[in-house]
Amino acid sequence: MSEAIRFQDQVVIVTGAGGGLGRTHALLFAKHGAKVVVNDLGGSTHGEGANSSAADKVVEEIRAAGGTAVANHDSVTDGEKIVQHALDAFGRIDVVVNNAGILRDKTFHKMEDADWDLVYKVHVEGAYKVTRAAWPHMREQGYGRVIFTASTSGIYGNFGQSNYGMAKLGLYGLTRTLAIEGRKNNILVNAIAPTGGTRMTEGLIPPQVFEQLKPELISPLVVYLASQACEETSGLFEVGGGWIGKTRWERSLGVGFDPRAGFSPEDVAASWQQICDFDGAAHPADNIEALKEMMEHLQKYAL
Ligand SMILES: NC(=O)c1ccc[n+]([C@@H]2O[C@H](COP(=O)([O-])OP(=O)(O)OC[C@H]3O[C@@H](n4cnc5c(N)ncnc54)[C@H](O)[C@@H]3O)[C@@H](O)[C@H]2O)c1
Repeated sequence: MSEAIRFQDQVVIVTGAGGGLGRTHALLFAKHGAKVVVNDLGGSTHGEGANSSAADKVVEEIRAAGGTAVANHDSVTDGEKIVQHALDAFGRIDVVVNNAGILRDKTFHKMEDADWDLVYKVHVEGAYKVTRAAWPHMREQGYGRVIFTASTSGIYGNFGQSNYGMAKLGLYGLTRTLAIEGRKNNILVNAIAPTGGTRMTEGLIPPQVFEQLKPELISPLVVYLASQACEETSGLFEVGGGWIGKTRWERSLGVGFDPRAGFSPEDVAASWQQICDFDGAAHPADNIEALKEMMEHLQKYAL
């Protein structure tokens, strides 16, 4: 049995925690002793309107269960206000869970700038703003945990979600670099790609499966990743319905052409099968590992 995970004297911001996945994250953090900032603008799935009652209700739930929480109603695009609220209420910030999100699904040929921009703003700029404002505090105290919420729609693509997929995979790119930059200050950064039955997925998932995909089944991973017990950083985890898996890059061993002689598009065509052959594939964990095959190839032709 692992040691109990506790957040004694730790402060956690969960964005978009007025409903769906963010709500169950916030409840579980509070259950494990964290002081929680329940952020939610309270708008629609499409990013319209605002309503403070969403966050307030979750705070009431946490308090009724004996936990500690405050509500915050700012948009994540005003991330510095959310972080300031955490500092004003609790004096520190240990964990940021970037969870707030909206959808503006449209096929690419119908995509309008407003749909593209708003999805970027909430998911990417919002996560940037909150995390950027919390970052100096985490650096200074030599401790921090950041979770970004990506999506399988970003990892694998999904019809009608070019804007959303762009934003969600962008967050994984952000995860990878912040993990590198944060490591020396003990700031660990991971991403999840959840699947949960929420208002965002209602009507898209068959009702019986929707029922099984309870948001509560995603939060234990988030709480673990955000805890002192966790040493993981730079990870991407697909999670839902009580199942968790880790996703990583895979690259074929590739084909090397003589860099002095050059090569033609026909040479590429002739080698296509080998270029795309994943037998014995590499799983580069960082940029240095990623460049290894290319550098070894160059060395064969070194002057
Ligand atoms: N449900 C899924 O299967 C699924 C799959 C992949 C990714 N996700 C991601 O998980 C996260 C949570 O989604 P959910 O399914 O719980 O949806 P949800 O709509 O229930 O929750 C999203 C919350 O974010 C809040 N929000 C939206 N814009 C905001 C803003 N500007 N500032 C603050 N709060 C804002 C909303 O009010 C809402 O309460 C999102 O980032 C979503 O993209 C969900």
